[in-house]
Amino acid sequence: MTPAHRPPARRRTALLATVPVALAALVGATGPTAAGAPGAPGAGDPYFPLSGNGGYHVRHYDLTLRYDTSSRHLDGRAVLAARAGQDLSRFDLDLTGLKVTGVTVDGTSAAFRRAGQELVVTPGHTLRTGRVFRVTVAYDGTPQPVTDPDGSADGWIPTDDGAFVAGEPQGAMTWFPANAHPRDKSSYDITITVPQGRTAVSNGELLGRRTEHGRTTFHWRESRPMAAYLATATVGTFRVEQYTTPDGIHVYNAVDPREASAAAPVLKKLPSVLAWESGLFGPYPFRSAGSVVDHAPGVGYALETQTRPLYDSAPDISTLVHESAHQWFGDSVSLTAWKDIWLNEGFATYAEWLYAEQHGGDSAQKTFDALYARSAGDHLWAFPPGDPGSGRNIFDTPVYARGAMTLHEVRKAVGDADFFRILRAWAAAHREAHGTTAQFERLAERISGKRLDGLFRTWLFTEGKPKNA
Ligand code: TRP
Ligand code: ZN
Repeated sequence: MTPAHRPPARRRTALLATVPVALAALVGATGPTAAGAPGAPGAGDPYFPLSGNGGYHVRHYDLTLRYDTSSRHLDGRAVLAARAGQDLSRFDLDLTGLKVTGVTVDGTSAAFRRAGQELVVTPGHTLRTGRVFRVTVAYDGTPQPVTDPDGSADGWIPTDDGAFVAGEPQGAMTWFPANAHPRDKSSYDITITVPQGRTAVSNGELLGRRTEHGRTTFHWRESRPMAAYLATATVGTFRVEQYTTPDGIHVYNAVDPREASAAAPVLKKLPSVLAWESGLFGPYPFRSAGSVVDHAPGVGYALETQTRPLYDSAPDISTLVHESAHQWFGDSVSLTAWKDIWLNEGFATYAEWLYAEQHGGDSAQKTFDALYARSAGDHLWAFPPGDPGSGRNIFDTPVYARGAMTLHEVRKAVGDADFFRILRAWAAAHREAHGTTAQFERLAERISGKRLDGLFRTWLFTEGKPKNA
């Protein structure tokens, strides 16, 4: 996909990258079997230039992990089924820390080297455009979280009884080799072996669970496309509850006993929250659901891990509503660039406002008014949410709150009927795929028949507190 809004600078870079190929072909210096070009080391996202990789798409990850909760040692084997998008002479995966002990491509050992967060793989011969190939990476070590530009930690975060595994925006590379940008979505098999008594929770369905020699292996499968940052393999001492909702959704909740009494009344509402959101946003995008409620003091955030949000402590109802709304907005409909983050956080925040409005709390208008009353110097107006400027700002208040205010402005401009039509159409049209801010604006204009460019410019892209609320 080539979004029309992509900045020209990126196109120039992409063009330059193809020059050596063209030159080699012209000069004829390399025969047809030696042709091809290296895949780019990043997906071209200016906020996280090395996240993701160019030149190929991963269709499926098969991860086999073993985690020793006392030594904190991780043994991993990743098998990636990928497809070359160009003639590939070599390609990168994202992986940081850990030791790589071997790489094969289609069963033949391949040369590899580490360069920062890039694992650079050179197969024995060029992979032709369209070729489906299999990469195996054997690795091990003590995973360490990465520090985000905003100072928070993400990735594999050790806890007192296991690990809190949350990959947004760049933590997937701390525990498996990946094409780790939301532009690349894949299905996953994740098999994790942990000491008996601990539980390893991942995305999608639990296909099998087996205890042998004091260790338990959990086999999880997420068959719907998933961005790498939404994968988890959270390990801990958990109380597990499983049931199927009247809508046929398989729920798997794993709760740290220390959080159990606080979590219970909120988790009980999960089926009704998903049903309520389905009424507003269209059918729930997945067949599995649930929650992982860990006890991870110091993490400071929750994550909308696909099908099964991850909480660092017992969530309140707003947080449950927020992470559940992300299943539509962020997980099923994914970003193509981190600067569009308001499409995730503004929408999930607005879902909280709507939930309050329809469950005896403040109206969305009242929530909006309280925010709008903040003075022009308030941090809420520090930057416009449509392009927060850098990875440091992607989880900051303007993205969440002013992002939600933008949706409220759209709602006022088009009326409730069209507004909810727009939300449903957005989730349906980009289901299991991607969406951009420009596409959302066009959809809102098409459905409402109104020009909304001024509204979006003011609320998403103009510095300072908007005047015409
Ligand atoms: N997307 C998460 C939420 O809103 C928040 C989040 C994920 C986060 N990773 C983070 C916040 C890193 C701060 C730092 O629901
Ligand atoms: Zn969120």
